[in-house]
Amino acid sequence: MAQKTDPIAVFDSGMGGISVLKEMVRLMPEEDFIYFGDSLHAPYGTKTTEEVRKLTIGHIQHFIEDLHAKAIAVACNPATSAAVRMLRQMYPDVPLVGVEPAIKPAVLACSHPRVLVMATPVTLKEEKFHHLEAIYDEQAEIIPLPCPGLMEFVEKGILEGEELEHFLREKISPYLEKDLTGIVLGCTHYPFVRREIRSIVGSSVEIFDGSLGTARELLRRLTVAGLHREDNHKGTVTFLNSSDDPDKIRLSAYLFSREI
Ligand code: DGL
Repeated sequence: MAQKTDPIAVFDSGMGGISVLKEMVRLMPEEDFIYFGDSLHAPYGTKTTEEVRKLTIGHIQHFIEDLHAKAIAVACNPATSAAVRMLRQMYPDVPLVGVEPAIKPAVLACSHPRVLVMATPVTLKEEKFHHLEAIYDEQAEIIPLPCPGLMEFVEKGILEGEELEHFLREKISPYLEKDLTGIVLGCTHYPFVRREIRSIVGSSVEIFDGSLGTARELLRRLTVAGLHREDNHKGTVTFLNSSDDPDKIRLSAYLFSREI
């Protein structure tokens, strides 16, 4: 039986979920977190749904059954779409949250929303995205922008510089004439390059990501399950990675400490 003092596991295909982890630690500093990045198998955004489901379920079984995680955050869009429904059936008593592109706040932020959704190709093909698109279709113009190759910059620790700027400019420039009101960062890696995106689009376009919403939902589910730790414990963060490259752990700690 899970205890309040057990850790929370946060999972992504690589470094991206650290953007979500940061909000969770800010909101729940008393909790212990284990962050697992599957850098060995990244990217997930170009794999089949079946492959992503198999990898995700395998890792989460390990977090719950071997590492005694009391709650799970799937901080990866392709893994959420592929596996969260099945995981909830497998572990109905475990508080479990996934992520989705923050289209709702971007649409509700203004009266004539024109929103660019940057994400991996798989996320933009999934049912979850089409469902969100259908909900807000009449209220807003939603423009999907697949960004294959962008998460790889973050995986390599490249968060600024000419090469990244050139990549982003090529992607975003065609939409700058369209009077965008918002940009949704629909991949958990992208908040780490927010500053570069901001320097291209200027200050009039609002940039949204779903990290805080996911953190709040985790807190809500932990509270409902009676598993939210309310003592004065100073929480810890442990980084794990499927790759045996020690730089992955160093990069994880760096990204966690960096302002985004
Ligand atoms: N960070 C992930 C996301 O939220 C996926 C990146 C990938 O593995 O393609 O979309």
